[in-house]
Amino acid sequence: MSPSKKINELRSLLERHNRLYYVEARPEIADAEYDRLFRELETLEHQHPELDDPNSPTRRVGGAPLEGFKQVNHPVPMLSIDDVFTEEEVLDFYQRLQKNLGRKSITVSIEPKIDGVATSLVYRDGSLAYGATRGDGLTGDEITANLRTIPSLPLTLKTPFPAMLEIRGEVFMPNKAFARLNEEREEAGLQTFANPRNATAGTLKQLDSRSVAKRPLSFIAHGLGAMEGLDLLSEGDFRSLLNSCSIPCNEPVWTTDTSNGVLSAIRELGQRRLELPYATDGAVIKIASLSDRAALGATSRAPRWAVAFKYPPEQKPTRLLDITIQVGRSGILTPVAELEPVSLSATTVSRATLHNESFIHDRDIRIGDTVLAHKSGEIIPEVLKVITEDRPPGTKPFSMEEHLQGTCPACNSPIARRANSESKGRPVVTWWCENPLCPNKAVAALTHFAQRKALDLDGLGESVAIKLVESGMVKSPLDLFSLRIQELSDLLLDPARLQTGESSKPRRFGEKKAQLLIDSINDSKADQPLSRWIFAMGIPQIGESASRELSRLHKTLPDISSSKILRTISLLADLEEERKEVSPQNKDRPPLDDAERSARKKLHDALKERMQKAEEEIADYEVSSDIGAVASRNLIAFFSSQHGKEFMQQFERLGLCPESANFLPRPSEASAATEMPLAGKTFVITGTLSQPRSIYKEMIEQGGGKVSGSVSGNTSYLLAGEGGGSKRDKADKLGVDILSEDQLISMLK
Ligand code: IVH
Repeated sequence: MSPSKKINELRSLLERHNRLYYVEARPEIADAEYDRLFRELETLEHQHPELDDPNSPTRRVGGAPLEGFKQVNHPVPMLSIDDVFTEEEVLDFYQRLQKNLGRKSITVSIEPKIDGVATSLVYRDGSLAYGATRGDGLTGDEITANLRTIPSLPLTLKTPFPAMLEIRGEVFMPNKAFARLNEEREEAGLQTFANPRNATAGTLKQLDSRSVAKRPLSFIAHGLGAMEGLDLLSEGDFRSLLNSCSIPCNEPVWTTDTSNGVLSAIRELGQRRLELPYATDGAVIKIASLSDRAALGATSRAPRWAVAFKYPPEQKPTRLLDITIQVGRSGILTPVAELEPVSLSATTVSRATLHNESFIHDRDIRIGDTVLAHKSGEIIPEVLKVITEDRPPGTKPFSMEEHLQGTCPACNSPIARRANSESKGRPVVTWWCENPLCPNKAVAALTHFAQRKALDLDGLGESVAIKLVESGMVKSPLDLFSLRIQELSDLLLDPARLQTGESSKPRRFGEKKAQLLIDSINDSKADQPLSRWIFAMGIPQIGESASRELSRLHKTLPDISSSKILRTISLLADLEEERKEVSPQNKDRPPLDDAERSARKKLHDALKERMQKAEEEIADYEVSSDIGAVASRNLIAFFSSQHGKEFMQQFERLGLCPESANFLPRPSEASAATEMPLAGKTFVITGTLSQPRSIYKEMIEQGGGKVSGSVSGNTSYLLAGEGGGSKRDKADKLGVDILSEDQLISMLK
């Protein structure tokens, strides 16, 4: 098969499996098989840059950062929608439709209003031409590169498709993914996003699509923009088109032709929307018939054929009983509101994060206050504000330092204050426990180490971790590797609760569970690849993708601890800071006179030169944005800290040596280091072979060899079929080995 045919075949195969996995939730192949096909396509595309396609599934990982976004005009204006807030207003809308269309029965559909970012996607000949934000409704930002990274957004449409199709829809971040992202940001001391929509909008604004690819965004279509080559009659036709082209469609949907039907649909959706895995803030009611839509038209702002019923956001007053402090894995102290239980958006809420001390001060939240609670994005319980009128006498402003008496609630060591990031120009104050042996940190570190995404240790959840730390058996995760079965079996867990609510005697962990855990600890030594180990270590800012990138660049953990790449990245960041500072263009510190200007220019140029050299040193590695200056500095700080040194010593004593499963040597070292059978060999092809030459060329290249047109001193082999006189003669003269087709094939084996 020709490379171009093979590439096309792999592209449509991968898009199909992508669809089955992300849109239809019924995968047909294992992840490993998908990865294999993906890599095969990547290799072929690398060998055939002329067959490049921006909508190849391999482009979903993102590309080089942009300087800025281009503006595009929407083919049809992207209008807004009129909001209504009561059932009476919904009835008014329906009656207006009856009056304007002059008939009683009007079919409408009712579907969720997704709380995301409105997006327009333009497909030409079934391939994504570009995608854009709503902007001012007439012109938006072209954000195609960012949109391509969204797995559920189709890059190519399933046939049959109209010649041109503009789809409108929402890009959003699913609730669970949003919660995880915020947890990670909180752990890292970064500003958290207020709700999934803000997280989505913030992500889509990034100029580096590789960072966008790391964020779990999703897409659902809800409207038709422009179209050529097909005629649709109704919302039903539109939904059939979406389904047949495999574009994710907005569900659930109700269809009715009575006003009572509309009311019962919005009530039902009011319940069901809380079970959807993403945020919704209303019900959109639309006329089904497209000719009725055209007849009714639009005002300059919104169509007359649709309306959005907005559900009232659930906010309830409750009492703030106390503020407690949670100690995170990195030692960050997070204040938590202990609330009088209150029912909000389908669950009972009794705790809500207060994020950090600045959050509390900005809102003057005090213990004993009556506060207004809600769920941000309808998932994360949060204190909105204090109802100051209801403040009881005798409350006082909250101070972490006073509340904690300056010490960590878990270990009583002194706590430290850091103002480490800024929000709206003001620093965000966080407090940290700096004791590396703090038991709460140890528990958090242990559960992180054992979780599924890390070393995946059986039976080591939070409650067991607490007991392991309390008993003194484990102080840090590596102590797990010295646990003995007997002591682990005898570990006392919390008393078992009898149904009456009385406590019985404490339970033992027991032999069976102990054996399972020990086995799984031992298995992890041999089975878990380096990337999981790095992630398990819980170094700030080193999440799953950064860990994978580290293991692509290094073979072993000691390699990372002495990594030149990391040192260069952090050096580059230092040099850049220095360069900005000394630059004669620095507006905050302009040169005082010409002498200073020229001295600073010299220094500036020298710094630039050093940076260029440093950049060249690591350019070949193509380090992804997962390992930036902050990640590199954190890694270097970890390995040079007392704690990090002890970790590495213990690691070596235990004989641990996890290896990278995705280590890629530097391209220049690759040909020598790889095990490709034809690596470093140059071939010339001559004579009549049993298959076209292009096939042999492809085979040789797949085996790591090169094909050249003429025989020379650099030729390793001549692949010769029938005839092929002059090249054969030259090869003979130069002593170049001559191969038959069979010999080549056996070399490839
Ligand atoms: S239909 C021309 N359906 O809400 C207006 N819009 O305020 C017809 N939205 O920016 C819009 N979910 O992006 C429609 N199921 C849904 C929607 C939806 C969210 C957004 C839309 C628009 C905004 C309108």
